[in-house]
Amino acid sequence: MPDNPYRPGYHFTPAQGWMNDPNGLVWHEGEYHLFFQHNPEGTDWGNMSWGHAVSRDLRDWEHLPVAIPVAGTEQAFSGSVVVDHDNSSGLGEPGRPAMVALYTSCDVETGIQSQSLASSLDRGRTWSRYPGNPVLDLGSKEFRDPKVFWYAAAGCWIMVVAMAEDRVIQFYRSDDLLAWRHLSDFGPAGSVDGVWECPDLFELPVAGEPGRTRWVLLISVQTGAPAGGSGTQYFIGDFDGTTFTADPPGVEGALWVDHGADHYAAVSFSGMPDEERIVIGWASNWVYAHDLPTGDFRGSASIPRRYTLALVDGRVRLRQQPVLEKLPAPAYVAGPFAVVEGEHPLPVAGHGTRLRVVAVVEPESSDRIGLHLRVGAQERTVVVYEAGSSELVVDRTRSGDVGFSEAFPAVHRAPIEPADGVVRLEVLVDTTSIEVFAGEGEVVLSDQIFPSADSTGLAVFAEGGAGTVRSIEVTRVGTNQS
Ligand code: FRU
Repeated sequence: MPDNPYRPGYHFTPAQGWMNDPNGLVWHEGEYHLFFQHNPEGTDWGNMSWGHAVSRDLRDWEHLPVAIPVAGTEQAFSGSVVVDHDNSSGLGEPGRPAMVALYTSCDVETGIQSQSLASSLDRGRTWSRYPGNPVLDLGSKEFRDPKVFWYAAAGCWIMVVAMAEDRVIQFYRSDDLLAWRHLSDFGPAGSVDGVWECPDLFELPVAGEPGRTRWVLLISVQTGAPAGGSGTQYFIGDFDGTTFTADPPGVEGALWVDHGADHYAAVSFSGMPDEERIVIGWASNWVYAHDLPTGDFRGSASIPRRYTLALVDGRVRLRQQPVLEKLPAPAYVAGPFAVVEGEHPLPVAGHGTRLRVVAVVEPESSDRIGLHLRVGAQERTVVVYEAGSSELVVDRTRSGDVGFSEAFPAVHRAPIEPADGVVRLEVLVDTTSIEVFAGEGEVVLSDQIFPSADSTGLAVFAEGGAGTVRSIEVTRVGTNQS
């Protein structure tokens, strides 16, 4: 890969060209597949194709050729992949189940968006479009992003798909992945400022409530997310095989997967054990995605996240933990120590640009206590707990090159309650991003940043009083770029 100072160290990026949504996430025969919305011809959106990479550990990715290219006037928009183990589609061969991609065909001449199918018999290395495409066509120009899963309770396939402009998710069922019957609609609900895209639906156990499960409906909205612009909202509820019914909203209104500016189109892997839900999002925002200063590629994936459900104040809420394998032993471990007013650089030599920092902070008398990351002469990215507002705040005002987001709010906030007087912050720092998992993963903020390569300092700070860092651990994360 060409040398590029803005190439993330351990987040997935296309080798070259443009990337937006992750597509077709599936585990099959020991490999995690990551397909993605890709322009192989340039660093702006266009020529939408399915790029492709595989990994055995969700960290080191092998780039493969484009899986589903543009064909004539048909562009391949977002969608999902399932493995048709019982050959319900007839597209497999004895002993060789087909991988089946359900994607949106967007006809660039008519603008019509319909659902189509492609299949592979060689572990995703080559793909054939189904001759009977499209398999679901309403004549709509705003009908996209099918996510398909096997619904064991009724022995059928279920598709969730967005009527984007209407802010409606439609549910369909099929016995063979080819013929689809409409079941029900959900929405509008929750955040409806932006068009609805990239739905996903899955069931998870509720931690601490033996035998209880809830369904999670993910919906990405192009504008109106808390940090500004695009974001992924979620609903907790029930799915009975026909209809999704959301639990009544809490006081917080719409629920957000991530309160930072850069987490969109988050969808989960299929082909994993029932209780294992791993999700990847696009680490960008439609407001400025085309303005990122990254050169020969544009767009990256979030860290993969393991989802669980837990009770928070009596309500079922999502928790996320980053999936990051192959970590060495921490380079620095300290605490507890007092943090008096001001900034206190940590005495770790050469922190580097790729770190995992886990800090447990106790605000005590301080108004604000937190971390300065990617610190340079003029640069720092701030992650701070604010006692007055009970909020976790990420501030990228002085994070480096902010030209891409000049008209965009630089400060992003999420409510969080300390547990037993402390706030746990797990921060993944990479060349061009930070992802903060706070508490037990119930609050997450992800932001792109573009600091100079030599802004590698790390500090703790307090304002308005003194607090304590109960513990801090810094691990240098390796790179997956060869
Ligand atoms: C979401 C999205 C999808 C669409 C794809 C096109 O980011 O707009 O709705 O399928 O991108 O690239």
